[in-house]
Amino acid sequence: MELPLLPLFALSFCFSIFLGSCDDFLSVKENSSSSPFPSNFLFGTASSSYQFEGAYLTDGKGLSNWDVFTHEPGKIIDGSNGDVAVDHYHRYQEDVNLMHHIGVNSYRFSLSWTRILPKGRFGKVNWAGIHFYNRLIDALLNRGIEPFVTLSHYDIPQELEERYKGWLSDEIQEDFRYYADICFKNFGDRVKYWVTLNEPNVASIRGYRTGMWPPSRCSASFGNCSYVGDSEREPFIVAHNLLLSHATAVHLYRTKYQKKQGGSIGIVMNTVWHEPFSNSSEDKLAAERAQSFYMTWFLDPIILGEYPAEMREILGQDLPAFSRKDMEKLKSGLDFIGVNHYTSFFVKDCIFSECEPGRGSSRTEGYALKSPQMNGISIGEPTALDWLYVHPQGMEKMVTYIKHRYNNIPMFITENGLGTRESSNPTNNEIINDVERVDYLRGYLDSLAAAIRKGADVRGYFVWSLLDNFEWSDGYIIRFGLHHVDYATLNRTPRLSAIWYKNFIALHAPPAPTNASSY
Ligand code: BGC
Repeated sequence: MELPLLPLFALSFCFSIFLGSCDDFLSVKENSSSSPFPSNFLFGTASSSYQFEGAYLTDGKGLSNWDVFTHEPGKIIDGSNGDVAVDHYHRYQEDVNLMHHIGVNSYRFSLSWTRILPKGRFGKVNWAGIHFYNRLIDALLNRGIEPFVTLSHYDIPQELEERYKGWLSDEIQEDFRYYADICFKNFGDRVKYWVTLNEPNVASIRGYRTGMWPPSRCSASFGNCSYVGDSEREPFIVAHNLLLSHATAVHLYRTKYQKKQGGSIGIVMNTVWHEPFSNSSEDKLAAERAQSFYMTWFLDPIILGEYPAEMREILGQDLPAFSRKDMEKLKSGLDFIGVNHYTSFFVKDCIFSECEPGRGSSRTEGYALKSPQMNGISIGEPTALDWLYVHPQGMEKMVTYIKHRYNNIPMFITENGLGTRESSNPTNNEIINDVERVDYLRGYLDSLAAAIRKGADVRGYFVWSLLDNFEWSDGYIIRFGLHHVDYATLNRTPRLSAIWYKNFIALHAPPAPTNASSY
């Protein structure tokens, strides 16, 4: 398949706004001899099964929590769902070709638990699902693209919700172990990078505090929930089970597979740089608490063996305790930290000063009011998303924070990208010339490079995302792709950012080895 080169309208656009050549705009400054990225650095794009695959009932797949949730009226802004998504299930070969054209040497994707085990451990293995992932993994390796695989990117079998309330029950640890075992056994000969869970912090908060996501559990003052819940306690119970499920899978990998298969395993956290709103020691401590109640909530138990001190102090009995057996399990730790990083917020103390109620100000969230704007000052350029403000410096600060707290354990930036909203009748120019995305990626990669130059052990970077896709509560309204997807035809078209990223990789990474003929 021949891919379009830089579309003509993009060229004319570049000339008109930059009064120079498009090459100037697309150029990536550094030369390879001074590149801060190590020679084996992974440059990739990221995706997840529910957001990409579609084929939600094809070839024996079972229903996931997200399949069921999106079919309930009113849950997704545009009333859409991931039944078809971008049909990656049928178009994966085309998508691998797109990746190859960009020159990435890695692809982060997730397995759909219910494509492999339609009813968790309470049913049979669906071999059609295993064969699909075998085909995808082989297609990637044929193009010299390393698979970087997440076991669960928010999706779990609906069966587990119905049997024992999913992550609320400690039974799920056994289901996760059973599922992980099948994945390591079938794919571990070729998959060398495993992620247990994508953003367990976000899954706990959105599913059980605000109730915006399945299983829609929350209680007043946190959300308007259709079901029951307890926003003050359930997120911590769920987090505890997520942590122990992670530990169970890592323990299994370490004892049964790692030596033979030679891969590594980690967890992916959503990270937000929390900038103290003032120089006061109160606001600085509040920013620390904001990290604890959001991120180190998970990483501390896995790496340091206990919940952060601030959480233990403030939550007391509401924070579940680890039994001796749990502590043993947690010792399996991780090999790397996956960092999803998009944005930064200001943080203001709410212990010593009065705070209006708002995100973070409650006891359950550590009394640390978080906002992208305070006293009329914005942390960065606003975007189409109310949680995403452009603050590239946050990348260096976040990576450096993790480096210091966890003794420079290897990190991968497992997601970074910009979401945009298209007008109702977009011109070709609007569709393709995603100048803001190029600026965003350039800024964040520059900032990452600065952290690496100062010694952070970062081993890879993945743009979210290869394609526009199903953006959870925002449906198809928000677009994150290096490629535009026309949802009527499912045609993929490279944006300016795809070409910019291709140039960036060419400058910083050697071409990927491939045993396939080039096209
Ligand atoms: C999630 C993705 C999501 C992206 C943009 C990340 O936190 O892992 O699934 O699409 O953010 O919202």
